[in-house]
Order: sequence, then C-alpha cells, then structure tokens
Amino acid sequence: QELQLNLEQIEKNNFDHFMLKEIYEQPSAITDTYRGRLLADEGIIRMAGVDDNLERFLNAKRILIVACGTSWHAGLVAEYIFEDLARIPVEVEYASEFRYRNPIINSDDVVIAISQSGETADTMAAIKLAKEKGAFVFGVCNVVGSSISRETHAGAYTHAGPEIGVASTKAFTTQITVLTLIALKLAKAKGSISNTDFHMHLQELETIPQKIEVALESNAHIKEVAFKYKDARNCLYLGRGFNFPVALEGALKLKEISYIHAEGYPAAEMKHGPIALIDEEMPVVVIATRKGHYEKVVSNIQEIKSRQGKIIGIVTEGDTSVRDLADHVIEIPDTIESLTPLLTTIPLQLLSYHIAVMLGKNVDQPRNLAKSVTVE
Ligand code: G6P
Repeated sequence: QELQLNLEQIEKNNFDHFMLKEIYEQPSAITDTYRGRLLADEGIIRMAGVDDNLERFLNAKRILIVACGTSWHAGLVAEYIFEDLARIPVEVEYASEFRYRNPIINSDDVVIAISQSGETADTMAAIKLAKEKGAFVFGVCNVVGSSISRETHAGAYTHAGPEIGVASTKAFTTQITVLTLIALKLAKAKGSISNTDFHMHLQELETIPQKIEVALESNAHIKEVAFKYKDARNCLYLGRGFNFPVALEGALKLKEISYIHAEGYPAAEMKHGPIALIDEEMPVVVIATRKGHYEKVVSNIQEIKSRQGKIIGIVTEGDTSVRDLADHVIEIPDTIESLTPLLTTIPLQLLSYHIAVMLGKNVDQPRNLAKSVTVE
C-alpha cells in the first residue's frame, strides 16, 4: 500500500493531482509536439504523414473532422484555423452522429479523426465508414500504436505523453498544435498564405510554450477567483471566433470535474437565450482577448454587467477596458489571433481544477466518466 502511494507520488511529480501535473506539462508537451517538425528559422514544417499525401490534401474539396468530447472541441478550433489559413472548407462532426446519419462522403474528401486515446468506439466506427466510401482518413492521436492510429491511412501523433487525468488538458492543446501545423503546411503549399504571414506564424508558434509558462503564473490569482465561485450552481462561458470552441471546452472542464452545470456559448448568441439566465448569482467567464471581435465582446460584457452577472474576463495583458467592467480579470500574453486558444485554455483549466479541489471532488477520476470510451 505504502509503496503504491509512493509510486503514485513519483508519477505525479509532487503535484497533488495528475490533472494539475498535466496542465503544467503543456509547455513541454507542445515543444515535443513540434520538435523536428517546426523549423521556424528555415521556414519549414516537416510532417511525413502530410508530405506523403500532399496531393490528397490539396485536392480535397473539403475536410471532415470527426471526434468526441474534448477532441471534438479541438476539431472546432481547427475548423477556424483551416478555413482562415488554408481556405479549405471544413465540417466538424460528432463521430457518434456522423456514423448514424447516412452521411455524404466523397472519395475526394479528407477525413481527419482526432482522438487522444485512439480507442474511442464512435470515432473508430466513423473512420471505418469513411474508408468504405473511399475517403482518405488521417488520424491525430496521442497514444502510439492505438487502434485508430492503425486504422487510419496516415496520421500525426501529438506526442503529449501519457495523459492520466480523465479530464483532457495537454491532449487538447497538443491536438490544436498539430492541426495548426497541418493547416499552415497546406496554406503554404496552396499559396493561400503570404510568405511574411507564414513566417510570422511559425515564429509565433515557437513562442507559445514560453507564453503558456507566463499564463501559468496566474495560478494563485485563479485560485482566489475559484474560491469566490466554488459554490455557484451554474456558470456560463462565452467566446467568439477561434475562442468560441475554447468556451465550450472551459464549460466541459467545469462540468466534468466539479459537477457544476456549465454552458459554453458563442458570445453573440447570448442574446438568443442564455441572457435570460443572467442574474447576480451567475458567474460568466468571458474570453475577451484584444484580437478577435474585441469591441463586440466588450459590449456583451456590458450587457452582462447591467444584469448584475459576475464577470470573469480572460484578457490580453495590459487590457484596461474589460478590467473596468469585470469583477475579475485573468491575463494571458498577447499572440496572433489564431493561436490564442492555446493560451486562453490555460486559465479555464486551472479555474475548474481549483473549484473541483475546493469542492472535494475526485479530480483525476470524476464520477461516471472514463478516460477512454471503447463502447458506444
Ligand atoms: C472521454 C474522455 C474525454 C475525451 C473523450 C474522447 O469522454 O473522458 O476526455 O475527450 O472521451 O476521447 P478521445 O480519446 O477519442 O480523444
């Protein structure tokens, strides 16, 4: 028993939980993701799985992304990135819906399946269906040699290392990193990005691990914010553009480990429903980084404030407008818009982690959830 506990302590590297360890591992996990692939100084992205199948990607009329859970959220972020940079139409599907609705799949479609475990039954079934229809299927998995990585035609591993916490953290940010590399590579090959922009993106991507380190420095402050809202019954998460999927992911993290009901919404959709929920009891986490519809999100914040909602703003460092309106702000370093999800995700992970710990929940193994879902 004692030996077992000690072993676990070693594995946790002195963090209280695997989830916290994995949150803190993100700078190194992302560095591992792009190691040997991203050669920023030379302006090269090297990915054998993409290089070997470049024609399939370039001739694709569209990209279909299939995934579940957090991986599906990474797919949604990728939709914004692929369409913005590579100008390829993207559809993102829940694997479980896709497989059962007689989907239209063409032989010139590229299907990207995203899965941390590489074992999710619904995602696996979606891949098999896509293969039967002649589509080219590319896997983005973390677990090397997993079923999905073997079933796909080609792929790219995320190299995040083992993720033990049931609530996915470093798998999510490394999935986004891999998908960003692919989008940039295709954009370059298609000529849909200027040389200057391409180099700027590569340089900026290289600074992300360092910027995540900076974002992690807000941990003590985030813990204070968590203490204020740990007894909330509900929580709303809002974001726009690249950060709309991050709002969904933030809400999912809170639900999964603290069992507080949370919803993520595109900020502008608030007026079509969720605004009715806002009163002085409702904390609203708003991603309001300087780039990306900033003024519009600030006006959403004003609407929340006038209804006495409690505002937790995720802002770019040095921000003043949101600070004046919000009850709390959590800063992240500045970066280009398409890369902001890699930073805005960090405080949301920490916020749900601290709330769950304060509520005495089993953070690493939340009730009713499994790390990999191998049944339908
Ligand atoms: C489970 C896990 C989630 C994960 C989802 C998809 O629900 O608890 O954390 O996002 O499955 O898993 P996958 O391994 O396919 O990414």
